[in-house]
Amino acid sequence: MQNPKPVAVTAPVIIAVVLLITAAVAFFATLLIFSPSNPTEEATSQLADDYAEVTDRLLAIGDASRAEPLLEKYACIACHRLGGERVAPPWENVPNIAADRRPPLTAAEYVYESIIHPGAYLVEGYPPSMPQDYAGRMSEQEIADVLVYLLNSEP
Ligand code: HEC
Repeated sequence: MQNPKPVAVTAPVIIAVVLLITAAVAFFATLLIFSPSNPTEEATSQLADDYAEVTDRLLAIGDASRAEPLLEKYACIACHRLGGERVAPPWENVPNIAADRRPPLTAAEYVYESIIHPGAYLVEGYPPSMPQDYAGRMSEQEIADVLVYLLNSEP
């Protein structure tokens, strides 16, 4: 024991270093786990895959010429009335903007989601007032007809 001093100094240093490493690991683990972008992006592209299976089928069976009575039956035009007061976004631009609203959703996937799950994405400046129960009330054929109408026509 000629030199006990380094031992006395080393122990606190080791403890400090261990604490620092633990804190750093905990910090980066938290960053990884709670990173807002990763899980959201993954969830959205998973959604896109799920929707794609349905929208491919809907696009094949949809008939825009049958849509107008449905827009009345389900009161869509009560809120989305052309030229009316702005309780809901106008549809004229849907064919142009739908593909860019919520990447990676395609235009068809976005419009489909807007109908069956309106809360998933809110158009800026509008309240979450769209009915949430269309998925249960509309048949697949009806959703298909409205989807094709909104994507292709100038309502
Ligand atoms: C009670 C009012 C109301 C009714 C009824 C309603 N919507 Fe909406 N809709 C909204 C509002 C408000 C928004 C914007 C907020 C949001 O994104 O949910 C919206 C958004 C949308 C969008 C997205 C538009 C965009 O620019 O991105 C589509 C598509 C849509 N609605 C289709 C429909 C269809 C189809 C129906 C009928 C089956 C319907 N809506 C019925 C209020 C309504």
